[in-house]
Amino acid sequence: MPRPQIKTPLPGPEARKILSLDARFISPSYTRDYPMVARRGSGMWVEDVDGNTFLDFAAGIAVVSTGHCHPEVVRAIERQAAMLIHMSGTDFYYPLLTQVAEKLAALAPGNSPKRVCFGNSGAEAMEAAMKLARYHTRRHRFIAFLGCFHGRTFGSLSLTASKAVQRNGFGPLLPGVSHVPYPNPYRCPRGHTPEGCRCAGIEEIEALFRTAVPPEEVAAIVVEPIQGEGGYVVPPANFLPELRRLTERHGILLIFDEVQCGMGRTGKMWACEHSGTVPDILITAKGIASGLPLSATIARADVMDWPPGSHASTFGGNPVACAAALETIRLIEDKYRENAARMGEYLLERLKDGPGRHPLVGDVRGKGLMIGVELVKDRKTREPHPEARQKVLRRAFEQGLLLLGCGESTLRLMPPLIVEKEHADLAVEVIERCLEEIGSAENRN
Ligand SMILES: Cc1ncc(COP(=O)(O)O)c(C=O)c1O
Repeated sequence: MPRPQIKTPLPGPEARKILSLDARFISPSYTRDYPMVARRGSGMWVEDVDGNTFLDFAAGIAVVSTGHCHPEVVRAIERQAAMLIHMSGTDFYYPLLTQVAEKLAALAPGNSPKRVCFGNSGAEAMEAAMKLARYHTRRHRFIAFLGCFHGRTFGSLSLTASKAVQRNGFGPLLPGVSHVPYPNPYRCPRGHTPEGCRCAGIEEIEALFRTAVPPEEVAAIVVEPIQGEGGYVVPPANFLPELRRLTERHGILLIFDEVQCGMGRTGKMWACEHSGTVPDILITAKGIASGLPLSATIARADVMDWPPGSHASTFGGNPVACAAALETIRLIEDKYRENAARMGEYLLERLKDGPGRHPLVGDVRGKGLMIGVELVKDRKTREPHPEARQKVLRRAFEQGLLLLGCGESTLRLMPPLIVEKEHADLAVEVIERCLEEIGSAENRN
């Protein structure tokens, strides 16, 4: 098993050149925790422009599900690019568009027939889901959850409530969106232990229905089955089933945002399968095409009842992205979904046993290869420790491990689904070392 190779100071000389151009020409709205300037990737590994190599536990934000440049995905892309790059499924037909739709319709949870509308990003898929929910129900309101992230376009941003900076200065957003707390067993308001917590927070929504939000006006409740950007929070097992019952009582649609937690990442094709809950609309993006831009809004056929011309996208379902998706889905179904389940359990246990015992770590949680390690100032008060999280991200990078943060002070581990034991061991070793260094430095100060 190779190990990370860091041959230059970071950033290296070639990286510095790119960083100075980036500082001049790229929108300052991007967030980079450390100066990783990538040149090429293969499997679990990324090489930077100075020849340093890094073990990738970020996967391009949970996108390269089959690893970097999986040879079979590359072959599918090359073959399709030589045959037909673009046609536009909005005005023409081509086999790949219907093949991917047929596959997604079969994979989507629930037995009823499904239809698929393609886009290019998670936010676009959410826009489609919101428009469809309004069109189908002829109701205008939405309920979403604090901490959830659904995208940055105006509609999706109106649901997003992950970090205030993502909304600051952009209002007014879509009217009629109400937010309620996302159930977080580590921070249960009733003080239950994470293992014992069954607080789904349905009473909060029922209170809204009695007071400020007539349920007859609510088109949909939108939720991430596992909260991603907001902190890798796994809700209690009864949360989604209770939401389903509530929405059915009031004729409200249930939309699952599986952009981050879907496509095999949690060890099942969709995270909602862990609770057996079936939504009316499910959106997917990120890991669906191993890095080519593609998203899908999958709805019950009787819900997707909008007429020709009401919604579409020029590039959505582009043939090359569809070819990558078919190959990606085949690989996930064949072996990587199962690998995600097995390796997820292994990684979670290793993290709990090692870094999880460090005083800076408050909680280690996750499903499959969607694992969060929450850092705290004090295990009793559970006060988040964003400074320590940033230091771990930076030190891990310097030691050749790519991680990202989420929530206020959580490290997120979302490696490609091809990850093996040795990669997991290496990542745990680096994280443990970083925590030791940062913990000792804090004790000295
Ligand atoms: C759960 C979820 N929904 C939607 C989005 C938005 O996706 P995109 O950045 O492709 O628009 C993201 C992106 O991180 C996400 O994690």
